[in-house]
Amino acid sequence: MDLKSLIRDIPDFPKPGIMFRDITTLLRDRDGLRYTIDLLQQKCHEANLTVDYVVGMESRGFIFGTPLAYKLDAGFIPVRKPGKLPAAVHSVEYQLEYGTDCLEIHQDALPVGSKVLIVDDLIATGGTAVATAKLLQKVGCELVGFGFIIELRDLNGRRHLPNVPIISLVEY
Ligand code: PRP
Ligand code: ADE
Repeated sequence: MDLKSLIRDIPDFPKPGIMFRDITTLLRDRDGLRYTIDLLQQKCHEANLTVDYVVGMESRGFIFGTPLAYKLDAGFIPVRKPGKLPAAVHSVEYQLEYGTDCLEIHQDALPVGSKVLIVDDLIATGGTAVATAKLLQKVGCELVGFGFIIELRDLNGRRHLPNVPIISLVEY
């Protein structure tokens, strides 16, 4: 299936010069959605990943991370924007393609030593993924890989990531 044909390109959103890769048109396509999650699962198996938990970043990481966790027979852990998680948190600041922000995880979110796959819809600069990897270090987890639907190759975000398998389904 041609996933790229289901992803809509919106120029100059949210700022001039940004080509926004809109996954809402992929999500509404029932065959495209199923194919996307099944392909992520297949690539995790091909990479021999053992995954106890999928960690997904607010908000688009939740959309893909939770069904993938279900398929992998793993749990799902949300990493959230500041002030949203109710219990004690670890925080890390990070940079976006278009601004800066902060991410948080519950300090007791998952057992020390758990094997974790980080999932998001898209990697651009890699700032979000690196910040999430730092949060996992703080909780003492073992990062086993990253899964993205979309990778923006020009920004080369993967060069900032730790040395674990990086799965991406569509490249621009
Ligand atoms: C987008 C996207 C990734 C991140 C990628 O999230 O969903 O999480 O940017 O950019 P980076 O690799 O340069 O860090 P955004 O912060 O826009 O939040 P949203 O998912 O709530 O729309
Ligand atoms: N997040 C960061 N850069 C993005 C882009 N170009 N399209 C969609 N989401 C993004």
